[in-house]
Amino acid sequence: MNGENTLKPRITPLTLLLQAVKERMSRVRAKILVISGKGGVGKSFISSSLALALADLKYSVVLLDADLHGSSIPILLGMDNVKLYAGEKGILPATGPLGIGVVSINLMLPEPDTPVIWRGPLKSKAIIELLAKVHWGDRDFLIIDLPPGTGDEALTIIQSIHGLNGALIVTAPNILSEVIVAKAINFLRRSGIKVLGIVENMSYFKCPETGKVYYLLGKSSGEELAEKYNTPLLAKIPLDPSIPEAIEKRKPYYVLYRENEAAKAIRELAEKLARELLS
Ligand SMILES: Nc1ncnc2c1ncn2[C@@H]1O[C@H](COP(=O)(O)OP(=O)(O)OP(=O)(O)O)[C@@H](O)[C@H]1O
Ligand SMILES: [Mg+2]
Repeated sequence: MNGENTLKPRITPLTLLLQAVKERMSRVRAKILVISGKGGVGKSFISSSLALALADLKYSVVLLDADLHGSSIPILLGMDNVKLYAGEKGILPATGPLGIGVVSINLMLPEPDTPVIWRGPLKSKAIIELLAKVHWGDRDFLIIDLPPGTGDEALTIIQSIHGLNGALIVTAPNILSEVIVAKAINFLRRSGIKVLGIVENMSYFKCPETGKVYYLLGKSSGEELAEKYNTPLLAKIPLDPSIPEAIEKRKPYYVLYRENEAAKAIRELAEKLARELLS
């Protein structure tokens, strides 16, 4: 038996892909996951608006929509007719509002409503290929919008991107149950990913006429949760009827309503993250 050969690491296409991911990702200064224990809390809205707010602060940003089944980033940004093309250095992110780069499997499908029917291992392979083949370029931030829960996509991304700075946990008052937040926090901690903090979405509604504050989804307990899990409560984002309205118009809320309270809260979140991660 030739001992020398058996000791050599086998170069498989997967290891080559992972190497390519490592090289490409080393050119992105801060890489942030946006995750939640449950669906429909506003992850995609927060990740797309955060990417726009960072671009507004003059950072170079690329946004990855890693929700293969429920992709909504292209709709939130009014880019559902856009396609991704390959250039000399790899697949080129589409250019979105305020110049952000946008990468989504949905932008690679022949029709946006083509269902993605990959199962577990195929899905992981698709994500790794995407990470390896996109020309992410030299960026200040990569924001990754994950599907709800703690499944295959989240795990694959965590395992293939080295140097992730951490994750934002998005939650909302009505589902601020400890179990759901705990599930996301435990998943991250077990995977060795730093919890950057909690972002509470749909926290309250402020009547534009009277200024009175209503807790439509229940009284928030973000502060208590943050204390219990020893992580900061980074932002409280109010309910704003202009958000679904902007989505219906296929225009990004952050661009249309930059001075609204929810947009300002997201901008403050962007400033905090830039201070913490880039200084
Ligand atoms: N602060 C807010 N005020 C009003 N509506 C909001 C707010 N945040 C999100 N929404 C609405 O909630 C809906 C769900 O948001 P979004 O798609 O971002 O959630 P998600 O967590 O990404 O969902 P999924 O788990 O399906 O990926 C959207 O239709 C959006 O219009
Ligand atoms: Mg989503």
